Amino acid sequence: MSVQKKIVVFTGAGISAESGISTFRDSGGLWEKYDIRDVATPEAWTKNPNLVLEFYNQRRKQVLEAKPNAAHKALVELEKKFNVRIITQNVDDLHERAGSKNVVHLHGEIRKSRSTFNPELVYEIDGWEIKAGDKCEKGSQLRPHIVWFGEQVPEMENAQEISSDADIFIIIGTSLNVYPAAGLVHFTKKDCPIFIIDPNEVNNPGISNLVMIRESAGKGVPILVEKLLRGELQLS
Ligand code: OAD
Repeated sequence: MSVQKKIVVFTGAGISAESGISTFRDSGGLWEKYDIRDVATPEAWTKNPNLVLEFYNQRRKQVLEAKPNAAHKALVELEKKFNVRIITQNVDDLHERAGSKNVVHLHGEIRKSRSTFNPELVYEIDGWEIKAGDKCEKGSQLRPHIVWFGEQVPEMENAQEISSDADIFIIIGTSLNVYPAAGLVHFTKKDCPIFIIDPNEVNNPGISNLVMIRESAGKGVPILVEKLLRGELQLS
């Protein structure tokens, strides 16, 4: 029996753009409209929790209205033939709703809240809002289950281990600006083929065996998936 090849897919905001969810650093992106320091840091939470709650409530609303697109769906197809692990920087649940089975969220999950008293107390949010006064079972205010700038990335070690085991590494829709996530590619094996799918120029993260596919995720991912499923790509 042949052993299934391991495909690791590393995704960013670009894979959900065609589902109507805003990216961060494109023109018109979220960080053009908001200052990171006002809404996505522990300091912001201390200074103005209502603004932070409102920012993420709006994001959650957008996610609830969105649906997985052709790119999310194509990645599910890959599971027919490969062992697929997805590492996403996205806080939406579109990979899961498309049907992907193994998804690691590096930057948290927007549809969950967690206790400000004990980070182990994580809850599914019913609807789109966390309100001031919503509390955990210990009586502390709930916050969004999001990794803010300046906070540890608890899933990072797990993601590094998964990346180091990849036979193929596919990067989709990320500007590779935010560390430590952007450094994951450097944990891959020396001969691991790397693909980047992004309609815009992405800085080569300093790797040699790289294929750039300058397409939107909705177009580029199904094409690459089809080629992989048909065995049309020369892989090590
Ligand atoms: P960015 O907004 O930095 O980058 C989005 C990338 O998606 C860019 O490279 C775009 O060219 C690309 N893109 C745009 N439309 C696309 C499409 N239709 N198909 C494919 N690619 C497309 O988003 P991320 O790299 O995900 O963290 O940002 C990383 C982290 O920064 C986020 O997880 C978030 C943010 O601040 C936190 O909030 C902690």
